[in-house]
Amino acid sequence: MSLRASHQQFTNILRRAKHIVVFTGAGVSAESGIPTFRDALTGLWSHFDPSQLATADAFRRDPELVWGWYEWRRMKVMRAVPNAAHEAIAVMAQWVPKLTLITQNVDDLHERAGSEAPIRLHGSLFAPRCSACQRPAVHLEGIPGEPEGGRRMAPPTCSHCGGLIRPGVVWFGEALPEAALSQSFEAARNCDVLISIGTSSLVQPAAEIPFTAAQAGATVVQVNPNPTPLDHLAHFNMRAPSAQLLPALVEETWGGN
Ligand code: OAD
Repeated sequence: MSLRASHQQFTNILRRAKHIVVFTGAGVSAESGIPTFRDALTGLWSHFDPSQLATADAFRRDPELVWGWYEWRRMKVMRAVPNAAHEAIAVMAQWVPKLTLITQNVDDLHERAGSEAPIRLHGSLFAPRCSACQRPAVHLEGIPGEPEGGRRMAPPTCSHCGGLIRPGVVWFGEALPEAALSQSFEAARNCDVLISIGTSSLVQPAAEIPFTAAQAGATVVQVNPNPTPLDHLAHFNMRAPSAQLLPALVEETWGGN
């Protein structure tokens, strides 16, 4: 895919940037076959009720339902592979003096594409911990032939205190990891360019990050096939699927180097 002339201006800004923040949401993994949350028809929240699956109360009420659902999602991610967008972001990091990758995603596709240590705002499907003593735990091996939507599964118990092991993700009503949050806002205040990719920009406090960057004077660009609340603030809105757009953008910006 070739970039339109209006993008030329953006590639110049990118080439000059000393610090780029890449901020990703579920849309960056959509082309790897991982469902987003809020897309009509295909989003997880159009099939599943977050209050029954993504809160600490839900886990207390029905740990087998919640654990089974997250195991189903983890299996889906394990069978998926990074797409051209994840790869383009990893390549971009080699060209820019400093690139900070912040993700709201709980999959591990950025790392598998070669991005080192993204800042994880919403935790990880691969970092379970004890719901009682908070010690980290390890996962059992995958479950073959997982049915669509998962099945009830008893969560393992903690080898230290016997508490139930919970998924290492941030649930609705829970605080985001403090260090990740402060590093993210610090990066947003100190970058030249912030690229928001594949997020509906609806979930706080993460959604505030591009606004903070804009207030501090950064150029904000959005890659998303659909409109979001960030549209009016972004200096550039690139309405395309990220796995199509990002490789072309990286190639046009740094390909001649
Ligand atoms: P959403 O599902 O809210 O939004 C996904 C966005 O990706 C939408 O704006 C889509 O238009 C866009 N999109 C879809 N396909 C795309 C593609 N191929 N390329 C680029 N963009 C595409 O997901 P998030 O914004 O990540 O929270 O959701 C934020 C948080 O809400 C998640 O981290 C999760 C959820 O509840 C937790 O797990 C705590």
